[in-house]
Amino acid sequence: MNSKEKPFLVAVLGMLIVLWMCFYYLRIGPPVTHEAQSFDETPLSRNQFRTHLPQSRHPLAQSALDNGLSDEDDDNLGRSELSQNMRSQLLARMNARYQNKDTSNELSKQKSDFLRDKEKQMTPGKSLPDGSGDAWNEEFQQLTEELLGEVLEELKKVQNATIDRADVIDIPVKVQSDKIADSMCGERNGSGTGQSGMQLKSGLRLFGQALHSFVLFSAYRFSIDEFVVVGLVSVHLREKYGDPVSSCAWLPNGSAYTVDLLFQSGNTSSVQKGIVKLFYVNETLGTDYDIAVCKCTFEDPVGANARGGSLYLNMTSASAKEGFEPVEVLHELPDELLSIQFEGPFRYDYAFCSPPIWGRLHPKHVKEWLIYHHSLWQGKVHYFMYDAGGIDSEIESIFQPLIAQGLITVINIVGTQKFRTFYNSQHLAINDCLQRARFVAKWAFFWDLDEYFQIQPPANISSILAENEDAVWISFGHLVWSKIYCKQEERPDEWAVERMAFHLEYPTCSEKGRSSTCHGSEGLRKWAANPRAVSVGTVYRTLEPEWNGVVFNASIARINHYSGLVAYNDESNCVLIKNLNEVDESVALDGWWWKDISMAENSKKARISSQSLHIFNSSLSSDYLSLRNVARS
Ligand SMILES: *[C@@H]1O[C@H](CO)[C@@H](O)[C@H](O)[C@H]1NC(C)=O
Ligand SMILES: *[C@@H]1O[C@H](CO)[C@@H](O)[C@H](O)[C@H]1NC(C)=O
Ligand SMILES: *[C@@H]1O[C@H](CO)[C@@H](O)[C@H](O)[C@H]1NC(C)=O
Ligand SMILES: *[C@@H]1O[C@H](CO)[C@@H](O)[C@H](O)[C@H]1NC(C)=O
Ligand SMILES: *[C@@H]1O[C@H](CO)[C@@H](O)[C@H](O)[C@H]1NC(C)=O
Ligand SMILES: *[C@@H]1O[C@H](CO)[C@@H](O)[C@H](O)[C@H]1NC(C)=O
Ligand SMILES: *[C@@H]1O[C@H](CO)[C@@H](O)[C@H](O)[C@H]1NC(C)=O
Ligand SMILES: *[C@@H]1O[C@H](CO)[C@@H](O)[C@H](O)[C@H]1NC(C)=O
Ligand SMILES: *[C@@H]1O[C@H](CO)[C@@H](O)[C@H](O)[C@H]1NC(C)=O
Repeated sequence: MNSKEKPFLVAVLGMLIVLWMCFYYLRIGPPVTHEAQSFDETPLSRNQFRTHLPQSRHPLAQSALDNGLSDEDDDNLGRSELSQNMRSQLLARMNARYQNKDTSNELSKQKSDFLRDKEKQMTPGKSLPDGSGDAWNEEFQQLTEELLGEVLEELKKVQNATIDRADVIDIPVKVQSDKIADSMCGERNGSGTGQSGMQLKSGLRLFGQALHSFVLFSAYRFSIDEFVVVGLVSVHLREKYGDPVSSCAWLPNGSAYTVDLLFQSGNTSSVQKGIVKLFYVNETLGTDYDIAVCKCTFEDPVGANARGGSLYLNMTSASAKEGFEPVEVLHELPDELLSIQFEGPFRYDYAFCSPPIWGRLHPKHVKEWLIYHHSLWQGKVHYFMYDAGGIDSEIESIFQPLIAQGLITVINIVGTQKFRTFYNSQHLAINDCLQRARFVAKWAFFWDLDEYFQIQPPANISSILAENEDAVWISFGHLVWSKIYCKQEERPDEWAVERMAFHLEYPTCSEKGRSSTCHGSEGLRKWAANPRAVSVGTVYRTLEPEWNGVVFNASIARINHYSGLVAYNDESNCVLIKNLNEVDESVALDGWWWKDISMAENSKKARISSQSLHIFNSSLSSDYLSLRNVARS
């Protein structure tokens, strides 16, 4: 390598590092301090997010996590896994190359010589005395370029994915778009320069993503005098400027003036003014946006004449100093109010609220999950499925028969990927669904597609809900299962869950260090709610109201969590197969895993009874397909 090439190599290395950092920032947030950059580092475990969680954990659960066996949220594969795959791939390749080199003492000497030489790179360099460093240097440069190319390619994919998906749906973002038209800034060709067609040399081009004080997602009526609005709020802007919404107002249909004009004139006698209360989930894992549920309450009934009207939120894009303006967030049509069954009867007994569905899911497992729960709920359920990019054609074909029967509503939240939030806007999905389910179902349920609900007989879901009719919410135990340790296969068509027979110890609340499994702010539990009584929730519990609920322990009613089961990762399943006859029920396997075949039995029953269940009948599915195709053409 000659002296001209060295600065080039330095530049390439520099760019690689910068791109590397950009890449991590884009995919998983700012680099964390414990992330060593050395090539000798062993690849990180899958649960990278988990390490930032300031939560105390059950020691067993923690060690399971450390072993990559389970993770509360790693079913949301994608973001961290993709980037980690990329990272470990690159590291592995780097190591492999280094190791190959290291087998030859000569080349390893060249390597250290090269590195030493590189330290002096600012002084005009020389080839190694014997010229033998060149081969290694070229190799190194080539590898660097290769990696750089791959990082760039990956960045482009990220960019493409963000742009394509964001364009698919129209999230009604009320706050001004940050696109600045070409014409507003920069040079133009033509007059004076005599250089028609020359390229733009200056002008504003925006990169990265700006923050928005409020990203509106949905708005619902809550009662005759209340509304609820769900959206994202920038954590940084909120910290700096305060709440982005200050009040709300209702303008009846038929008003001669717009809200703006009325407020300008100061005569607001035809506008009803309401009070806003903002609830934040406050769980962001360091991302930019929190979820806000904005409750707007009026003194008197609103729109009670059923002539329709509009709800406005009084919003600011920055601070109060810069002013608030009314933004229309909901329009009620004449008579729409009359169609709401505030007191029931409700169309469904149950509503299931999915988390954002993303990454690549295994259709077989999704179907098993649906069949199991459908029979548990006796079919009296409506599913709200949140598509964050994971409902591909295979998953859609599983859903189709149920969509055709009006049992599944798919809600597109793909566009929320533009905004960095806790697990692809999981709290947005939960809180939107809570509002959607309000006058549709008696109870709403919130858990993931790798989690299976189970109740200790003779109780069943309808009996425990009937017994706790007055409860505002119900919290269930959460039991972590191994999907590494399994029982032997009995038949080829059995379900994945039928082979799972080992769980961690029952979580208890009394002992120190085990609080994470209890109800309360630290509890990693799952819940169901009367959606007319609860207005805000997180993944693990209700936030508003926090009280008036019923708590069941894991031996009564529980969510069985087979972490990541629905994802395409069969290779990690059932690698340690146990003959159940040889496992003593009263002794934990490895001191951790307790034998329990109750879920295996339950799912076997569900599989057998599903053979007479026609809701997944594929002829319905093809009817639906042809109907849809007709509708489209
Ligand atoms: C990104 O999108 C462009 C235009 O649609 C396409 O040409 C390109 O191949 C895409 N790049 C990647 C890495 O997917
Ligand atoms: C710039 O040049 C192109 C090509 O010559 C021409 O079509 C266009 O009208 C010019 N634009 C302006 C603003 O003059
Ligand atoms: C305010 O507007 C209402 C109609 O919207 C009108 O009846 C009333 O006279 C106005 N009051 C004033 C002080 O202008
Ligand atoms: C969320 O954070 C805000 C601001 O720090 C605080 O006022 C509010 O009480 C918190 N809400 C909950 C539910 O913890
Ligand atoms: C909006 O809120 C600001 C600040 O609280 C208040 O001064 C203004 O009157 C409100 N405007 C409307 C239209 O409610
Ligand atoms: C307002 O009410 C009238 C009469 O009921 C109705 O025809 C019209 O569609 C309504 N307008 C809107 C925007 O809802
Ligand atoms: C649930 O339990 C109740 C009370 O034991 C019983 O009457 C009912 O039939 C059961 N329902 C189902 C679906 O098994
Ligand atoms: C669970 O609750 C039941 C009924 O309240 C109680 O009998 C049982 O001991 C509890 N189990 C555990 C593990 O706490
Ligand atoms: C689908 O349902 C129809 C009628 O319910 C039945 O005739 C048909 O055999 C079913 N097909 C399958 C594949 O189960």
